[in-house]
Amino acid sequence: MERGKGCYIADENGKEYFDAVGGMWCTNIGLGREEMADAIAEQARLMAYANPFVDMTNVPAAQLSAKLAELAPGDLNHVFFTSGGSTAVDSAYRIIRMYQSARGKPEKKHILSQKDSYHGGTFLAASIGGKPGDRISEFDFITDWIHHLSSPNMYRAPEHIKTASTFCDHLVDEMEQTILDIGADNIAAFYAEPVLGSGGVIVPPDDYNKRTWLLCQKYDILYVADEVVTAFGRLGHWFASKDVFDIQPDVITCAKGLTSGYQPLGAVIFSDTMYDAMADDEDRFFAAGYTYTGHPVACAAALKNIEIMEREGIFDNVNDVGEYFEQQLQTLLDLPIVGDIRGHKFMMCVVNVCDKETKMFFPPEVNIGKCISNRAEELGLIVRPIVDLNIMSPPLTMTRDDVDFVVATLRKAIELTMNDLREKGIWRG
Ligand SMILES: Cc1ncc(COP(=O)(O)O)c(C=O)c1O
Repeated sequence: MERGKGCYIADENGKEYFDAVGGMWCTNIGLGREEMADAIAEQARLMAYANPFVDMTNVPAAQLSAKLAELAPGDLNHVFFTSGGSTAVDSAYRIIRMYQSARGKPEKKHILSQKDSYHGGTFLAASIGGKPGDRISEFDFITDWIHHLSSPNMYRAPEHIKTASTFCDHLVDEMEQTILDIGADNIAAFYAEPVLGSGGVIVPPDDYNKRTWLLCQKYDILYVADEVVTAFGRLGHWFASKDVFDIQPDVITCAKGLTSGYQPLGAVIFSDTMYDAMADDEDRFFAAGYTYTGHPVACAAALKNIEIMEREGIFDNVNDVGEYFEQQLQTLLDLPIVGDIRGHKFMMCVVNVCDKETKMFFPPEVNIGKCISNRAEELGLIVRPIVDLNIMSPPLTMTRDDVDFVVATLRKAIELTMNDLREKGIWRG
C-alpha cells in the first residue's frame, strides 16, 4: 500500500480499496489528515525526544496524561505510556504487582483471563491471550499462574445451553468456582476485553461484563479492561467500560485509536487507589519503562487526534451509522455459508461455516476467511480474514453510503467464493 485518504487506501499501482479493517482496528479518524501531519512535524521540530525516566517527562506527555485522566471513567487518573497495546497489557501487570505488594498482598499474583481473548504479542500478553489459533506448538506460554475462563461466545455455547441469560449464569458460576479453587488471596487481576476483538468480535451476553466485574469487587480482584480496540470511539464512546457496559475498571489499557494509528503509542490508565498505595513509600520506584515511554511526537499526535474527535463529533457518526452497519450486515445471513453476524457499532464480524444447521467449520486448509477477503480485495474492499471469520473495524467516519458499498461488495465476494468452492468440489451447498 502506498497512500490513504479517509477510509480509502491505494496500492502502488493506483488501485483503490475501501479499508473496512481500519488498518488494524486503528485508523479511527481516517487517513491522510494534514492536521495530523502538521502536529507530528511541529513536535518533531520542537523536540523529537528527551529522557522519559526518573523525574523527567515532556510537555505533550504531561498534557496527554491530563487529558486521558479527564476522559477516563471515575478515579482512573494516572497514566503510564507504552509503545503499543501489548506493552500496555504487560506494563499493567507490573503496576498491578507493585500495587498488590505495596498493600501487603504480594501473594496476589495469578491472572484470570478469557478463552478467545487477544491481548498482544509479548510473552506475558500472549500468555494472557486465549485465542486457540495463536497457541502454536513452537511457542511457550505462562501456564501456572494464568487461568482462562470459557469464552463468552453464545454461538459456540455448549449444546444444552439455549438462552443468553442461562449462558451468562453458566459463565459467572464458572468464574466464581475458579476464584474459589485458586483462592481469591492468590488472584491479582482479571483481564477482560469488553468485546473480544481478534478472537472473533464476541459480544458477551448482556450483564456478563457487569456480573464478572461485580465478582471481582466481591473477591478483591482488580479488573483490567483491555480497551485497546474498544476505546476512542469504536463503540461510540471514549471508553466502552463505563459508557457501554456500566463498569468501573481499576485499570484500562488502550492504544490504536489513541493516535488513530498515526504514531505508535499505548497507555495504562489506573486508579487513584492504586497510585496512592504505591506512592506511600518514597524509596519505592517503578523499575520498568521503555525508551519510547511518552514519546513526545506520539503524544502530540494523540492530542491532535483527540482534538479532532472532539471537534468533529465523530462518535455521533458511530452511534448513528453503527446501528445501520449492524442491520445491513445482518442481511448477509441469507447466504448459505454465513452462520453468524456479530459485533457492535464499528466492530463487526461475519462468521463463515460449511453447514449452518450444525455450525460446522470449513476444514482449516480451505482458509475460507482468506478466500473471501481475496475476492473482496479484487472488488476494492479490504476485510480482515482470521480463519473462518471476516472482521471489520472501519474508520469512524464511514457513511451510510459506504456501508451500502461494504455490504454489497462483501455479498458479491462471498457469492464468488461459494462458486469457487463448488467448482473445486470443496463444497456442495
Ligand atoms: C485487545 C487488544 N489488546 C492488545 C493488543 C496488542 O496491541 P499491539 O498490537 O499494539 O501491541 C491488541 C492488538 O490487536 C488488542 O486487540
